[in-house]
Amino acid sequence: MTARIIQVDAFDLVVFGATGDLSRRKLLPALFQRDNAGQLPAAARILGAARTAMAADEFRAQAAKAISKDAASHPDAAARFLARLDYLALDAASDAGWNDLAAKLGEAPDRIRVFYLATSPELFGPICERLRAHGVASPQSRVVLEKPIGKNLASSRAVNDAVGCVFPEAEIYRIDHYLGKETVQNLMALRFANALFEPLWRAEHIDHVQITTSESLGVEGRAGYYDTAGAMRDMVQNHLLQLLCLVAMEPPGELAADAVRDEKLKVLKALKPIERRLLDTAVVRGQYRAGVANGATVPGYAEELGRTSGTETFVALRAEIANWRWAGVPFYLRTGKRLPERLSEIVVAFRPIPHSAFPDRAGPIHSNHLVIRLQPDEGVKLWLMIKDPGPGGMRLKQVSLDMSFAEAFGVRNPDAYERLLMDVVRGDQTLFMRRDEVEAAWSWIDPIMDAWREAEDKPKPYAAGTWGPSASVALIERDGRTWHEDASWNRDAHLDA
Ligand code: BG6
Repeated sequence: MTARIIQVDAFDLVVFGATGDLSRRKLLPALFQRDNAGQLPAAARILGAARTAMAADEFRAQAAKAISKDAASHPDAAARFLARLDYLALDAASDAGWNDLAAKLGEAPDRIRVFYLATSPELFGPICERLRAHGVASPQSRVVLEKPIGKNLASSRAVNDAVGCVFPEAEIYRIDHYLGKETVQNLMALRFANALFEPLWRAEHIDHVQITTSESLGVEGRAGYYDTAGAMRDMVQNHLLQLLCLVAMEPPGELAADAVRDEKLKVLKALKPIERRLLDTAVVRGQYRAGVANGATVPGYAEELGRTSGTETFVALRAEIANWRWAGVPFYLRTGKRLPERLSEIVVAFRPIPHSAFPDRAGPIHSNHLVIRLQPDEGVKLWLMIKDPGPGGMRLKQVSLDMSFAEAFGVRNPDAYERLLMDVVRGDQTLFMRRDEVEAAWSWIDPIMDAWREAEDKPKPYAAGTWGPSASVALIERDGRTWHEDASWNRDAHLDA
């Protein structure tokens, strides 16, 4: 099946931090894929900008390497893509090079301009200020900010204020790439394009929700950044809370940017603050020690970093949403590095049946679960009870209605960045975080992190290749529930690529 491709309008995209990890691993490959699919018009230009002085050809050579895996079978498309690239050495702290940028963009003054800030958030304000000072921020400009925005509510406000002095909110795209994942969008389709789920989507019928995003990789080359963030800022404040919002939000009146974001904001504001006295039982933070991951012995986080650290590489927590729909329904969130597998999934666990009409010999009756798998093997499974086929009387069996997207549609699953980058050019903010959402998320996270700091709380150790500290198991089992496991999956397929 081939998807219908609609070309976007001509644009100039400037990537700040173009020599960095994100640009190499995600942005350039995503742009190449869209180009290869025919979505970029001939006039579109991509300009790398970073502090390092280098010739445009050197940048193109780096880009060629970054796209090499996908480009191998498309040499013509690769050549066309590389010809779009250019490079400028720019420093947020000096004026050098900025007039060259203005001149280059001035060649097409009316064209859509996208400034992608793949840099640390402290540079967002200074870069925007220079974009204004050098007359580069035009009315057709959009700015894309990578998460995390700030380190807490106060610093996030400062960043948002600084960017907001140059760009109106309607031109600010705060990216959370989880929102661009195909299955995350499918969650909206599942909830709002089917009549089946809505009547059941509430405390009366749902026992609890689990959201897990686990990675088998460690911090790799990103320890410098990661140690200043930790799992709470890197994953929970944004990706996990955004997923929680999509599960919990009320149906929006229309699938328009502000209608969707208004509903997500209400969820964030309804998150029950975790009281300090409950912190130890409601939140678990961990840090990996040496262990075995992907079949090999791997060092602990402190060894990778080269010193001891109080930064967490694992968080599990129990959240509650104080509103009519969700009162009393726990949302268990869990994320970590160096866990047994790479897996992102949302599990909606329905309540048990109120009464069993079956004799004991029919076997246990498991409650229904809806499992939405974001990665890998994107798809949806609905776990039901059926009669075990064949003779032998009434015996019950748990089976899944399984919809694997790869099997059902056989199409390449685009990377989240492909969709999101094109949305920026199209001017669609639906899958981007609005300022008030980011700030509401920090408002909920901040007290937890403050309490950790004041108590000088140290993360609990866990061996690499395990599911985090045992306290994470206790966190859910204390409530008489267990973390979801699906032994029917091919576990080998779930290691990080
Ligand atoms: C990023 C985090 O936002 O998401 C990384 O900064 C993490 O630490 C990554 O590895 C996970 O994304 P994905 O799409 O591979 O699940």
